[in-house]
Amino acid sequence: MPRPRRIEGYAIVSEDGMVANAAGIMPDSLKFEADQHFFERGLDGVDVVVHGRHSYERQPRSYLRRRLILTRQVQAIAADPSNENALFWNPAGASLEQALALLGTPDGSVAVIGGTDVFGMFLDRYDVFHLSRAPDVRLPRGRPVFPEVPTRTPEEVLASHGLDRGQRQVLDPAKGLAIVSWKRSSKPD
Ligand SMILES: NC(=O)c1ccc[n+]([C@@H]2O[C@H](COP(=O)([O-])OP(=O)(O)OC[C@H]3O[C@@H](n4cnc5c(N)ncnc54)[C@H](OP(=O)(O)O)[C@@H]3O)[C@@H](O)[C@H]2O)c1
Repeated sequence: MPRPRRIEGYAIVSEDGMVANAAGIMPDSLKFEADQHFFERGLDGVDVVVHGRHSYERQPRSYLRRRLILTRQVQAIAADPSNENALFWNPAGASLEQALALLGTPDGSVAVIGGTDVFGMFLDRYDVFHLSRAPDVRLPRGRPVFPEVPTRTPEEVLASHGLDRGQRQVLDPAKGLAIVSWKRSSKPD
């Protein structure tokens, strides 16, 4: 079966590695124009967006994107009656490859956009993970970017799954916002 051409991850985290607060909400303190532009450009460049049921990106072109929405409310794969570009997907019942084939993009490029468990599921498959860090924001008891956080830092988790730290790019110098793209140098067969 064909495999996705490329799998990317996108997240912005607080200093303590959280993507949302204790109530499961992404607070305004994690929202930066420069990061949102980077994220939006990235999603415009892939064939399929993959996310859990609470992590829609809500951008102007979102309605055009093919997407897989993870949920345990379906056994394997089911149509989303509200969006002909989307499928509900339960990885316990069908593989990513099966879901992409049904979406009509068997070898498409994929952006994984959260939340915690969904980011964690793909740790051994990312070609690149774009990790933005919001300075001076802490979200105690929040939702971590990966299940192992905060026991380990997001960077330790990425490195332990074979990703190499890329160059730090400053997205907004005035706000101290920076992003690092972690890349896999070799891919298993
Ligand atoms: N800062 C960032 O970069 C970033 C990124 C992503 C999300 N967020 C924020 O994080 C918050 C949501 O976090 P979350 O962890 O609750 O979100 P989520 O992953 O979007 O949603 C969780 C739901 O997704 C489904 N799901 C997750 N893993 C699954 C699996 N392995 N198999 C089948 N279904 C699965 C389940 O849906 P069912 O209940 O239907 O079974 C689960 O209840 C939101 O506020 C969002 O804005 C922030």
